Amino acid sequence: MELPSFKIGNLNFPAPIIQGGMGVGVSLSKLARAVSLAGGLGTISSAGLDRLVSERIGRKVGIREACALEIEKAKQGMTPIAINIMVALENTYTKSVLGALDAAVDVIISGAGLPIKLPQIVGEHPNGAKTKLIPITSSGRALKLICKRWLKAGRTPDAVIVEGPLAGGHLGWKSLAEIESPDTKLENLVEDCLEVSREFGNFPIIAAGGIFTHEDIHKFLDLGASGVQLGTRFLATEESGASENFKEALVRCSEDDIMVATDPGSPCGLPFRILKESPMLKETLSGMRKAICDKGYAMMGGKCLAKDLPERFFCICNGLLSSAGYKGSKEEPSLYTVGALASLVDKITSVKELMEELVQGKTSKT
Ligand SMILES: Cc1cc2nc3c(=O)[nH]c(=O)nc-3n(C[C@H](O)[C@H](O)[C@H](O)COP(=O)(O)O)c2cc1C
Repeated sequence: MELPSFKIGNLNFPAPIIQGGMGVGVSLSKLARAVSLAGGLGTISSAGLDRLVSERIGRKVGIREACALEIEKAKQGMTPIAINIMVALENTYTKSVLGALDAAVDVIISGAGLPIKLPQIVGEHPNGAKTKLIPITSSGRALKLICKRWLKAGRTPDAVIVEGPLAGGHLGWKSLAEIESPDTKLENLVEDCLEVSREFGNFPIIAAGGIFTHEDIHKFLDLGASGVQLGTRFLATEESGASENFKEALVRCSEDDIMVATDPGSPCGLPFRILKESPMLKETLSGMRKAICDKGYAMMGGKCLAKDLPERFFCICNGLLSSAGYKGSKEEPSLYTVGALASLVDKITSVKELMEELVQGKTSKT
């Protein structure tokens, strides 16, 4: 059965599918535009855009201009586009939001921390009122807190992405035990967040993490979600910005090749799902990693753990920039983040083919 269409406020999408923001450099304008043109909502990741856009255009731009330029390139006028801006990137957060608004971005998606200040920042920009705001959460409790705080700034979420423990990237729990606990199953989180949505105005709930097939999407729609967000499936497309080495490692990997890294881990302090063959992990484990850490996106309170404790934390700035083929990485070994079901990926397809498969259910899991 074909999937239903989907609405976020006054924005209509033929397919209830959001392509998750993937930083650094995996979801740029090329991928996001292809997804939106195929009927879903494509998302640009703001992470590292200053360097990536400067490299692309051959002129040095700051993060605000870079976000605006990348969104304009994806929108080309009317195509609806979202941007994912992580709270954990505290040095560039406000400027990224403002740059996205300069280019009249349609949707801002924000997680990896609590996006408490987002409505206030957005409220001070002339384009702010029109832009839809979507927090990412991993619990009903955190969502309730966000809703209460946003109400004080006169907004409620236009939708909410509920990300479960099978997702790629950073995971919203402190320990592996919590990630593996039955309580944190995505189905349960969706139920908890639906309850909060009913209390705060019935905004749509979007399920994310470990959703792979047309059947998986139906399962979450049947549970009451209005849409889904997928990362790993879009990582494995021709349009994604992942390097060829990253894409090859993704197609090659088996279940045993995927781990949730904590120690050594991400300097953001959250568990991070990666491929064990990531050169950055191997170098960190060898004890030979030299902390160059010259980018500073993941600073927390003015400090970066990857710089202070190079044997316990890897450099996600340079590692992820490298995995998107960025040439200016001073610390070159790549870091490959994937979702828990990455071993099911057996080929790289076009976004068009993937969207047809997901919407019409023509091909199923291998
Ligand atoms: C390569 C990669 C990079 C990611 N980067 C980000 C990011 O920068 N910000 C974010 O909020 N989520 C990020 N995610 C999470 C995705 O947006 C998405 O929610 C998640 O991967 C969904 O799970 P799935 O991969 O099983 O579909 C990333 C995921 C992957 C695979």
